[in-house]
Amino acid sequence: MQISDRLNRMEESATIKMAQMARDLAGKGHNVISLSLGEPDFDTPQHIKDAAKKALDDGYTKYTPVSGLIELREAICKKLKRDNNLDYKTNQIVVSNGAKQSLANLSLSLLNEGDEVIIFAPYWVSYKEIIKLSGAKPVFVHGGIEDDFKVNAAKLEAAITSKTRMVLFSSPCNPTGSVYTKDDLAAIVKVMEKYPEVLIISDEIYEYINFLEGGHVSIASFESVQDRCIVVNGFSKGFSMTGWRLGYMAAPQWVAAACSKMQGQFTSGANAFGQKAAAYALEADMGETYKMATAFEERRDLVISLLKEIEGMKVNHPEGAFYLFPDVSYFLGKSVDGKTINNSVELCEYILETAHVAIVAGSAFGVDSCVRIAYSNSTENLKEAVRRIRAALEKLK
Ligand SMILES: Cc1ncc(COP(=O)(O)O)c(C=O)c1O
Repeated sequence: MQISDRLNRMEESATIKMAQMARDLAGKGHNVISLSLGEPDFDTPQHIKDAAKKALDDGYTKYTPVSGLIELREAICKKLKRDNNLDYKTNQIVVSNGAKQSLANLSLSLLNEGDEVIIFAPYWVSYKEIIKLSGAKPVFVHGGIEDDFKVNAAKLEAAITSKTRMVLFSSPCNPTGSVYTKDDLAAIVKVMEKYPEVLIISDEIYEYINFLEGGHVSIASFESVQDRCIVVNGFSKGFSMTGWRLGYMAAPQWVAAACSKMQGQFTSGANAFGQKAAAYALEADMGETYKMATAFEERRDLVISLLKEIEGMKVNHPEGAFYLFPDVSYFLGKSVDGKTINNSVELCEYILETAHVAIVAGSAFGVDSCVRIAYSNSTENLKEAVRRIRAALEKLK
């Protein structure tokens, strides 16, 4: 009896592990505040739920085309035009069980052993494992807190080799909340123009949670690289539909066809009534989405101001998603009750055990000097969580 080498090489998701540790502690009767999961705390807007109920009653209970219901793919094409000024045809869209599966489809359909994929770091935990699964090698290019955690063009160019097949990043970014502006993207595009054989995977799942004036810009809107951009997006974050498991990609037709073939063998596509409701969500009033984004912006300001009051905590001012990624290196190497905190994992464990607040170690995202705080929680809980974190940190000497 054995598990595969493939699985043995895979790391467990640090965010899911932390959430489980928090649940275990809560199960023992402690009042745990979880700021560890990448999930909006809002429920799915009622009108979208109603659309799913109607879809069930209307008989959307069977397999759909592997790439998704045609009405959803049409709605996605209209959305891409309306929000991003991008022109896609329905045969360039593949609907999946979440953006995560879209990324897995891309990795398994396009990469071979020995290929390299450049991942902007800090990176979302799953990128590394999803890429490794294909046999390809993740290559990390780092952006530091002094650059708002954004990767600059020179660092990107230095990492490109003859084996590079893809560049992968998210904007707004998980775990940093950073948003690549049009100018930031233009600099990246300038580099990519020199490497026409390299695909660009743009994860735009936090598109609607963007506090910048002028909103979201997709790298696919740059004409010179448009034909090799793959936009990954979904319903989890902007519509608060994490549990529906619905995402999509917009890609060159050959990529969409490849991913559809892969998906045909793995899942046969996403659930039918959810797709019907998702098509409705894209075309309905987006007021609820914008209300959620405003609430996240207010919480960001609140948590930043509270964190700044903690001596030694270094925090920047990200413009999207619902994460902060403060630098906690000041606290590493300090001790309490004879125990030294050596790294971000030990710091998060200490904070969970002492303050009963769950946050995630930066090492899971490629940066051990930071921690990730998801502020998708009530203002009351956020205030209490930071108060407790501060008390725990002040005990470290
Ligand atoms: C950057 C990023 N991409 C993709 C996903 C996955 O989204 P989905 O729920 O659509 O699979 C997440 C979820 O946390 C994310 O943070």
